[in-house]
Amino acid sequence: MSPVWKIDQLADQTGRTFVVTGASSGLGTEITRRLAARGGRVIMAVRDTAKGHWVRDRLRADEVKADLAVHQLDLLDLDSVRRFADELHAEATAIDVLVNNAGIGTVPRRLSPQGVESQFATNHLGHFALTGLLLDRLAAGRDPAVVTVGSSLYRLGRLDLDDLAAERGYSPGGAYAASKLANVLFGLELDRRLRAAASPVRSLLAHPGMARTELDRNAPASARVMAAVLGVLFRRPIAEAVAPILYAATEAAAPTGLHIGPGRPLRPARPTFESLSRPASDHGLARRLWSRSAELTGVDPAPTSGA
Ligand SMILES: NC(=O)c1ccc[n+]([C@@H]2O[C@H](COP(=O)([O-])OP(=O)(O)OC[C@H]3O[C@@H](n4cnc5c(N)ncnc54)[C@H](OP(=O)(O)O)[C@@H]3O)[C@@H](O)[C@H]2O)c1
Repeated sequence: MSPVWKIDQLADQTGRTFVVTGASSGLGTEITRRLAARGGRVIMAVRDTAKGHWVRDRLRADEVKADLAVHQLDLLDLDSVRRFADELHAEATAIDVLVNNAGIGTVPRRLSPQGVESQFATNHLGHFALTGLLLDRLAAGRDPAVVTVGSSLYRLGRLDLDDLAAERGYSPGGAYAASKLANVLFGLELDRRLRAAASPVRSLLAHPGMARTELDRNAPASARVMAAVLGVLFRRPIAEAVAPILYAATEAAAPTGLHIGPGRPLRPARPTFESLSRPASDHGLARRLWSRSAELTGVDPAPTSGA
């Protein structure tokens, strides 16, 4: 049964630290604003620090006491992911919640410095490595959690783990759906591994439905026209679309093993529990994705027991 929960019920977050990737625009900025407004400390992990500082100053202007730190993180580049994690280790930062939110959508084919297609590399591989490198810091947190932002489009995703540079064919929308399938498979496999290790850290999956962000700014014109038309009817304002993500990040009772979405379109967003179907429910595919991701990143997230 889905909860009756609205954003204005967001509990006091004083004393808790959140890492939010992609905090410099769209959903990430709103997640940051809401958490900071309830007393949380937010580490804004952004690829462009000038933009990050500008957004931080704007948020501070609204919330005088907002405790916000801006750190550089380019998820497309695994060296940058390692540098970011090293910085947090050097500062001995205790982290309560990691929100794997950043993403790119429907972009032309491009490769990461490591030679992987950019949507898969940014949306999945960067977050896979980041999570693995921060799990030890999370294990000491209060109600620690990793929240990975998925999408209903996971259902359309097809993963070819032998062609991650997309040499055999590429479509911007197909690659986006595949990267979102990878997010969901990762979140579920991480949940299984954390529970098997009796780790205190939980892995949750949330998605915003369709939201009025600029995610498709680099999409082909035809896709943007289609999105704009659908958007008039179905896209929710950002301030509402973040509800399921904030719920997952702050409520200890939020369930793992499913997708927490915003509920039916054309209604106010409220966290709604959605079971996940194929291809997300394919455990074998999730394990193969995990091994391939560990191979490509050199990071194998290893949950430890909280005991
Ligand atoms: N909007 C929707 O309808 C929708 C639906 C389902 C799921 N989602 C998911 O929601 C999440 C947030 O997207 P959004 O809609 O808020 O889009 P957005 O406004 O475009 O925000 C995406 C954020 O990700 C950051 N980012 C992109 N590449 C990065 C990289 N290499 N390293 C670090 N950060 C990077 C961007 O940084 P800059 O500020 O520098 O651009 C931006 O802050 C994504 O995971 C997306 O897949 C969105």
